[in-house]
Amino acid sequence: MPIKRNKYRLADIVPMLDVSEATVRRMIEENGIVPERIPAGSTTRPVYSLEQVLQLAKAKRQRAKAKFKRPLVVAVYVPKGGVGMSTVSNELTAELTLQGYNMLAVDLDDQASLTVMNGFQPDEVPDPGKSGDWLVKHTFLNALYPTRDEKLTVPLSEIVVKPYGEYGPRLVPADITLGELGYRLAMQPNREQFLRNWIAAHADSDLKDIDIILIDNAPSTSVVSRASLVAADLLLIPVRLDALTVKSLRFLANELTSLAESQLSIPQVIAVPNFFKANTTASTRITSALQRSFGDNVPIAPHIAESERFPRSLIHDNGHELEEVLPFTFEARNRSLESQHEAIRGVCKFVMNIAEEACPRGHPETVR
Ligand SMILES: Nc1ncnc2c1ncn2[C@@H]1O[C@H](COP(=O)(O)OP(=O)(O)O)[C@@H](O)[C@H]1O
Ligand SMILES: [Mg+2]
Repeated sequence: MPIKRNKYRLADIVPMLDVSEATVRRMIEENGIVPERIPAGSTTRPVYSLEQVLQLAKAKRQRAKAKFKRPLVVAVYVPKGGVGMSTVSNELTAELTLQGYNMLAVDLDDQASLTVMNGFQPDEVPDPGKSGDWLVKHTFLNALYPTRDEKLTVPLSEIVVKPYGEYGPRLVPADITLGELGYRLAMQPNREQFLRNWIAAHADSDLKDIDIILIDNAPSTSVVSRASLVAADLLLIPVRLDALTVKSLRFLANELTSLAESQLSIPQVIAVPNFFKANTTASTRITSALQRSFGDNVPIAPHIAESERFPRSLIHDNGHELEEVLPFTFEARNRSLESQHEAIRGVCKFVMNIAEEACPRGHPETVR
């Protein structure tokens, strides 16, 4: 069971949910949430589980008003690996969940990093006597096409997994079988619009309760990534501040231009600088590199610092127990992570401000 059995004090929950302590207390009351009590000196103090914190986040959603009329689609993509696409996808999914959004994270990379980050074992096959809870049974391919194993498409509700329980984000996991999606799409008429149309067709059914679909893409250039660009309202491009990746940025900019020239919908691009290190001049260089590729119209989100904490999130043992993996955002107890959490929250707010501006009255359809 990879969900870390973290226990959260009231003082931890306040910054996580980004509301006042009085509001947290009221929400706990209103939702009838009963804390566990752990010994503290001669008395006890209340602590809450992550599931309870996520339940409070859901309560926050019900309090909020203006929401998107159909799911906002956010693609995370650059045609270059190791820049932090999956890390950013994972962190933003967690943080946006805390902000009250119903999140669906889609792992669209057959290498399945996002799936691993969520505690699943995409490369394991069922082993009698071992729990199969953390194995990958279906991928997004099964939602789109019948396969050798599944004669019909599989409803999204049977594909999604809930790594943090009922109140947490939904994940469409990946494994190597997702690789077939590229072959299928390649033979598909209107392949670029296929994903976009699928989302539109399912907005009132399978996706009815979803506020934001976040798609973590493979770093390759393929018909799958093109389809995901066309499906997206927003495109987040993580940009490594410690290694200029100018060619891949330029390639992406050209890709978007050619899609637009074919009268296809293209997303609003937002750069998310990652691997920031203090005392380097990289940020100025990256800004000018971005501008050379995209012109001035790419907003640059607050940067995410380079941190020792991230690489560990992919480590897991090959036994029955995974290392406890939690996005920063859910690690409220650790003071050293606070500034990183601030940064992630800053990126989310930046992105959602643009989403709301680009999609007036919470209706993204009007952008186009
Ligand atoms: N800000 C960061 N600081 C340190 N390591 C990071 C940071 N962002 C990502 N990483 C690490 O870099 C590696 C690649 O990240 P990942 O998100 O898988 O990249 P991508 O999806 O673009 O291939 C992972 O080991 C991840 O933990
Ligand atoms: Mg990745």
